[in-house]
Amino acid sequence: MQPMLLALILGFSAISTAMSAELPPYRRPDLPVDQRVADLLSRMTLEEKIDQLHQCGVGDANPNNLIQRADELRATYGSFMTAGDLALRNALQRRAVEQTRLGIPAIFGADVIHGYRTIFPIPLAQACAWDADLLRHACRSAAESARADGLDWTFAPMVDHGVDPRWGRIAETFGESPYAGSVFAAAAVTGYQEGPQGIAACLKHYVGYGASEGGRDYSSTEIAPQRLWEMHLPPFEAGVRAGALTVMSAFNDLNGVPASANHYTLTEVLRQRWGFQGFVVSDWGAVQQLIQQGYAADEADAAQLALLAGVDLDMADGLYRQHLAGLIAAGRVPLAAVDEAVSRILRVKFERGLFEQPFVAPSALTGAAPTPAQLDLAEEFAARAMVLLKNTGVLPLGPEVRRLALIGPLATDQAALLGSWAQQGRAAEVASIEAGLRERLPAGVSLRGAPGCPIEGGGREGFDAAVALARESDAVVLCLGESAGMSGENASRSTLRLPGLQEELALVVAAAGKPVVLLVVSGRPVELAAVEPKMAAILAVWQPGTRGGAAVADLLLGRRNPSGRLSVTWPRTSGQIPIYHNMRPRARTGKEGAYQDIDTSPLYEFGHGLSYTTFAYGPIRLARPTVKPGETLTAEVTVTNTGKRDGIETVLWFIRDPAASITRPLKDLKHFESASIAAGASRGFRFEIDPARDLSFPDADGHRIIEPGEIILFAGPETARFNVGP
Ligand code: BGC
Repeated sequence: MQPMLLALILGFSAISTAMSAELPPYRRPDLPVDQRVADLLSRMTLEEKIDQLHQCGVGDANPNNLIQRADELRATYGSFMTAGDLALRNALQRRAVEQTRLGIPAIFGADVIHGYRTIFPIPLAQACAWDADLLRHACRSAAESARADGLDWTFAPMVDHGVDPRWGRIAETFGESPYAGSVFAAAAVTGYQEGPQGIAACLKHYVGYGASEGGRDYSSTEIAPQRLWEMHLPPFEAGVRAGALTVMSAFNDLNGVPASANHYTLTEVLRQRWGFQGFVVSDWGAVQQLIQQGYAADEADAAQLALLAGVDLDMADGLYRQHLAGLIAAGRVPLAAVDEAVSRILRVKFERGLFEQPFVAPSALTGAAPTPAQLDLAEEFAARAMVLLKNTGVLPLGPEVRRLALIGPLATDQAALLGSWAQQGRAAEVASIEAGLRERLPAGVSLRGAPGCPIEGGGREGFDAAVALARESDAVVLCLGESAGMSGENASRSTLRLPGLQEELALVVAAAGKPVVLLVVSGRPVELAAVEPKMAAILAVWQPGTRGGAAVADLLLGRRNPSGRLSVTWPRTSGQIPIYHNMRPRARTGKEGAYQDIDTSPLYEFGHGLSYTTFAYGPIRLARPTVKPGETLTAEVTVTNTGKRDGIETVLWFIRDPAASITRPLKDLKHFESASIAAGASRGFRFEIDPARDLSFPDADGHRIIEPGEIILFAGPETARFNVGP
């Protein structure tokens, strides 16, 4: 290096060291975060500390909840929930950093669940793509857009156990496999948080919310401790290991102690066992709801219980702000507990660089409509997430279809394709099914439509036109299902049946005698038992997001080959719930104990999904017949694409432990891999079995057990057996 340049650099760094030495330690990025936190904490008044523990909504943050008025906001609040308004966000931040004594920046969060302005499929559908990289990319893309609008933090991923389709929030889950949920939780956390435009992730809702009794939202949950460890906790643990900066405590009462006041889960498990270093935010009003749940006597009691259990930031209800000072004065809450909560929040703010860069500069993505790259990603994800449930051969639509009928209330609906957490997504920007088909149908194919009936309610006056249209057509695309508001939060249903007159519409249209392709637009599996036999093909479209209609068109026309596989069991009827692949075995099998009125099996199993090609599995090859703890065992299977089209196959590896000291699931997913296989080609898939990770199971206190004995391994239609040695 030239001496002159070196002298300049040395001179500059001497000046900057001198300057930073004048700054209080908490303002110095060169110091360790813990030191900065301790310094700042030592300068804060109790009031400033308590304000750090308060979050309130501003603007149009959450359609489900009331928002605090802007003129009530204090500049010292720790966090605001707001989205879609960078100017408002920066103005609030300016007050926080420039008009307060210590200039502590606020952290701005909102629900970026499956996209921001560009909407991706709902998480339940995302999981059906079985592609953690794709999921990670989508989260990263959503984070970039959210960041450009001023967000520091998303309340996602939701990693609740999605097992009851009556529960509207199953749409937000990654489905029923705790293993898949763990993989996707880690991928989502990484996607949101990585890169220069990353935002903090939040694992929610901790924990057990997915077991809401009867599928009723906000209900209590009764989860045996072993089951909690087996089914509910793993995705949270995986998300913590992936570096999630925050966790949201759930609404549900968990075995008599509400999740937002549960010291065992929030402190003993999350922090003491897993070493979580971030902060916990309560779900909206969850602290106050401790009263309604019969756990807290009054508001002060609720604040005390939540804080001492391990909830750091109080979302929306303001109970910390109103009661913590009094609780400390009365000796009911030690100041150290408040200090601890404040420290955790400050630590995340330091780690996210908020003290150095409190403002977000407008960029090309600020307030921006979907970009071409985002739309491509959304279309790819939508197509990969859809699941071909049935196909008698009508799909892909061939040249014999010259006149196509498009029937049903969901054919032109744009809003329904967005799903319930569309954040800044706009219905007008969504490719409806009709628009997708119109754009992509080959020249010379006519497309005519008839709604038939509305999604809900309505009469049969549209039936005749729909039936007449079906008769005049070569094939029918029938678009049935749910509106966006029929799933998601506070949107449970007692039955999975198609709402309104849609089932009847399906039957009269099918009676016209033309092949009917049923497209199911929904946030959950719906009950198809009555209509399924009459349908030539069924495609689960879910709520596929901004490019949903284009993805549908590509799949129907064979421009893409369907590859989605169910992330959740699809019941025949609502009465079968709960039904899931990883149930424990029954005492008697076959017809004994089965339902008298319907088949006991689901309509479509977890992992089901068809393709336009066929795949043949070779036998599972095991490297050895035995494995001991500490060793690994390689299992391989060769899959051949025996059809005429290239296709993506997902190999799902399940295990069963047929005799164990705690009975094990009939089948338990332990590994998966998706890969494209060209027509006629073969590909090997491998599962490197690690007994401690893959063959152990938790006891009621979460301690993992590995027992010697036989294990059955499944991949596609193949099975193999091996032994775990002592
Ligand atoms: C939901 C959360 C959400 C929060 C903030 C609550 O009602 O349960 O999932 O993150 O609101 O919008």
